[in-house]
Amino acid sequence: MQSKFQTIDTFLVTHQSLWRFEAFLQCFDGVSLWQQQYPRLHQWLENLSIEEIEQLKNDTDELINQLSHLIPELGLIPQLISLPSTQYSLLERNLALEAGIPGRKLSQIKALGQSVLKQHHGHEWLEWCSGKGYLGRILAFNSKQPVVSFEYQQALCESGQSEAAHLDLPMTFVQGDAFESESAQVFHSDQHAVALHACGDLHVRLMHNAAAAKTKALSFSPCCYHLTHHDTYQAQSSLGQNSELRLTKQELRIPLQETVTGGERVKRHRQQEMSFRLGLNALLREELGFSEYMPVPSIKKSMLSEGFEAFCLWAAEQKGILLPKVNFAHYEKVGTQYFWQMERLSLVQQSFRRLLEIWLVLDKAMFLQEKGYHVELSEFCNRKDTPRNILIHAVRNENS
Ligand SMILES: C[S@@+](CC[C@H](N)C(=O)[O-])C[C@H]1O[C@@H](n2cnc3c(N)ncnc32)[C@H](O)[C@@H]1O
Repeated sequence: MQSKFQTIDTFLVTHQSLWRFEAFLQCFDGVSLWQQQYPRLHQWLENLSIEEIEQLKNDTDELINQLSHLIPELGLIPQLISLPSTQYSLLERNLALEAGIPGRKLSQIKALGQSVLKQHHGHEWLEWCSGKGYLGRILAFNSKQPVVSFEYQQALCESGQSEAAHLDLPMTFVQGDAFESESAQVFHSDQHAVALHACGDLHVRLMHNAAAAKTKALSFSPCCYHLTHHDTYQAQSSLGQNSELRLTKQELRIPLQETVTGGERVKRHRQQEMSFRLGLNALLREELGFSEYMPVPSIKKSMLSEGFEAFCLWAAEQKGILLPKVNFAHYEKVGTQYFWQMERLSLVQQSFRRLLEIWLVLDKAMFLQEKGYHVELSEFCNRKDTPRNILIHAVRNENS
């Protein structure tokens, strides 16, 4: 893991001009970003049609393949991001147990559940940030071992507890705040701690509490790396702390910027909203001499149907700006051009997304190794069930 981390770390640092930028802000400068350093890349991006951009957005493997013809080192990425799969045959259907669990969540939970059941340690489960305890249900039912489900929201605890009683499962919900020191009390050494999609600081807290309590095993899938109380990423491992990368919160969002998964309507709304925002900013630059991007509050999707001019007038009112009489149709068109410019730039960043995520995950894995755990990384489900499909599985070494 150490050597893989260092290879990825050096790779990310060396190629930082290709992924450390905000496409939304950068698109005003066109694709000139790489004109000097990577002229072939620049030309290739300029020549991409809208159809090609859309197709590559949905096919990262092909994107990396095409980019590696322009920048051969990028051909290393598939090898660096590859992880073994721990996908086992899915647990059998159990209608009572699965009641109320939404479709994609159910697939994720069954895949993670199966994976941890196969690699189980200790005599009790701790389900960290459990929500209603969907994962805990599967673990309690299949292992017959008690589950403690720790969750912040009282309503979720109550709902989970009542469902567990109904199903006659040995589950106990504990309401608490992961960031309070008392949360450490739910950890002990004969447990297997699990978490599906514990966000940012929550999975960091899980690792620290588990390591301090010498918890026998922990298995979790991290997500939302940017949800942290800190301004920059707090590396956990020694190598991570020595890295030159000081990731900002904005950069921690990069691994999560998956291409639109919500179908045509969501895609259309996103395109329209972004184009409107970019068009308004072009207008402010040209007509009022703004040099900085002006953020506009979020809008209701229904507002998009009122058109670009209505959007600009609304935004100007929100910001206390008086707009001059302008050719709105012109700026709407400019906004759309900027949108596609942004999409071009994002393609290059897209090829680094998983690599950055693996860097973050390896940092956590190495921290656990330093604390006396044997650690394995794998993919516990297909990316179509969730792109946050990395499982960190750590088992305490006998002698530590
Ligand atoms: C992304 S959800 C995952 C829930 C569940 N593991 C699942 O996949 O269905 C994160 C959960 O963490 C809980 N949570 C957020 N902040 C927390 C805190 N400070 N302490 C404990 N739980 C917290 C939320 O209420 C939510 O249920």
